[in-house]
Amino acid sequence: MDLENKTIWITGASSGIGLELCRQLAGKGARIVLSARRRDALIEIAESLPGGMGRHWVVPLDLADADKLVDAVQSQLPEIGAVHVLINNAGISQRSLFIDTDLAVYRQLMEVNYLGSVAMTKALLPGMIAQHQGMIVCISSVAGKIGSKLRSGYSGSKFAVVGFMDCLRAETAQQGIHCLTVCPGSIQTNIAINALNESGEAQNKNDDSIINGMPVETCVKGIVKAMINNRDEVVVGKGISAIAPTIKRFFPGVFNRISAKMEYR
Ligand SMILES: NC(=O)c1ccc[n+]([C@@H]2O[C@H](COP(=O)([O-])OP(=O)(O)OC[C@H]3O[C@@H](n4cnc5c(N)ncnc54)[C@H](OP(=O)(O)O)[C@@H]3O)[C@@H](O)[C@H]2O)c1
Repeated sequence: MDLENKTIWITGASSGIGLELCRQLAGKGARIVLSARRRDALIEIAESLPGGMGRHWVVPLDLADADKLVDAVQSQLPEIGAVHVLINNAGISQRSLFIDTDLAVYRQLMEVNYLGSVAMTKALLPGMIAQHQGMIVCISSVAGKIGSKLRSGYSGSKFAVVGFMDCLRAETAQQGIHCLTVCPGSIQTNIAINALNESGEAQNKNDDSIINGMPVETCVKGIVKAMINNRDEVVVGKGISAIAPTIKRFFPGVFNRISAKMEYR
């Protein structure tokens, strides 16, 4: 897809991968709709993009409130006009063992990472189908292709995103809609600091895997390239986090033995 002058709605635009997507896509001439919970952070970022607030929009949303999302998004469309691309990027991770973790943490992870993306897609896909063109991008994770310790709720929500996108791709292929699933490995963002512990609080510390992960600029270059080339699914990362899905696919027994021994942090 040619991204120039396209309107691209990005969730999780206030930090990490979403923030860098705003920068790189606005740099390619796209108009960005920035969503996340923190309005002030979104305004500051929008003002820093080429064309500032005169060219881009800020729409604060809480993805945990999926029931209200469709109306909240569609009420903005008369002002924004046609949306060509939706990037479901917002998400939260987890660092806690299943046996210790409250059920509420599982609900929160599913609501934000999965149901939030479904609701955003519900709001914007009908307009794309009416235009006979559009792109839905979901940022899943390598954790959406393989399981590892401390992430049972996160992985469940990200596997759900992969399955949702496979179905959506099949259902919309004849209607001019392209569906891209992105599975990042460990990327240098605040994801680990914001990851939920067993009682649903942010763990507030970084992990070595993230500190030594792929720089966010490199990751987003890979995502933008995948968008331009109309890819269906890509893994973006380095080291073990990038090759784990291939090991699991071709050597599942080996993968399961490694995974049982390792605490990937
Ligand atoms: N970094 C990695 O290693 C990695 C690896 C695989 C996949 N991913 C995925 O990449 C995506 C982006 O994560 P990141 O690494 O950029 O992490 P991040 O720096 O923590 O950013 C997360 C973003 O999600 C937003 N968000 C969180 N909860 C929200 C909610 N309830 N409603 C609306 N927005 C919400 C946050 O904004 P507010 O706080 O302002 O709401 C923030 O903009 C996530 O889906 C994550 O699972 C990341």
